[in-house]
Amino acid sequence: MSPGRRLRLAVLASGRGSNLQALLDAGKERSYPAEVALVLSDKVDAATLRRAREAGVAAEWIDPGPPGLFGRIGERIEKAGADLVCCAGFMRILPPEFVRRFAGRILNIHPSLLPSFPGLHAQRKAVRAGVRIAGCTVHFIDEGVDTGPVLLQAAVPVLAGDDEESLSERILLYEHQIYPLAVRLIAEGRVRLEGRRVHIEGAGGEGAGFISPPLGGVPAHGKTS
Ligand code: GAR
Repeated sequence: MSPGRRLRLAVLASGRGSNLQALLDAGKERSYPAEVALVLSDKVDAATLRRAREAGVAAEWIDPGPPGLFGRIGERIEKAGADLVCCAGFMRILPPEFVRRFAGRILNIHPSLLPSFPGLHAQRKAVRAGVRIAGCTVHFIDEGVDTGPVLLQAAVPVLAGDDEESLSERILLYEHQIYPLAVRLIAEGRVRLEGRRVHIEGAGGEGAGFISPPLGGVPAHGKTS
């Protein structure tokens, strides 16, 4: 990519569009190294299309009725000169031909700590499974469902009394942070894919772990040496 050129994103989004909005908002900052160039939706009345148009970004409904949906989507993405495809609540499984066409250039955001809870209703599955820590994942898309190499994850606690809705809200706050961050890392040329491992230049140090649920004054009695 030539210096100063921003990475061009094609966003595939079927629904509410809050992750799309996070990418649009990030792109409004001149110093952010990427911009949304095109939004495509398979739902004619999707909020995503409205959000894109309000931001002055090209937005198109792609009719899922006729055959060859993903061929048509691929053509639009190429015509728009997009460098990276971002799925943001796009509720369709991408066929292998499409994944190969954009190999290593398609990202997805998923509301769980993959590989736990792939597929639909990830937050509901986390609540029902009784896990104490949930979260979200930005990953490269491969030919499986939510199986591609993990780029970034954020963890949140599952609190007593959480239901699907309250957990989803807590996770969503972090989705809106890690998706623009993942795109930034790629745009800055700091991401290298090696098999299933994603290396991020400059990542390091020790993040803080946490015990969930927090138990106030109860000592953990763990050995530190
Ligand atoms: C987000 O929570 C996203 O992680 C999820 O759909 C929601 C879309 O919200 N995606 C998946 O479950 C994909 N398997 P949004 O339209 O407000 O961005």
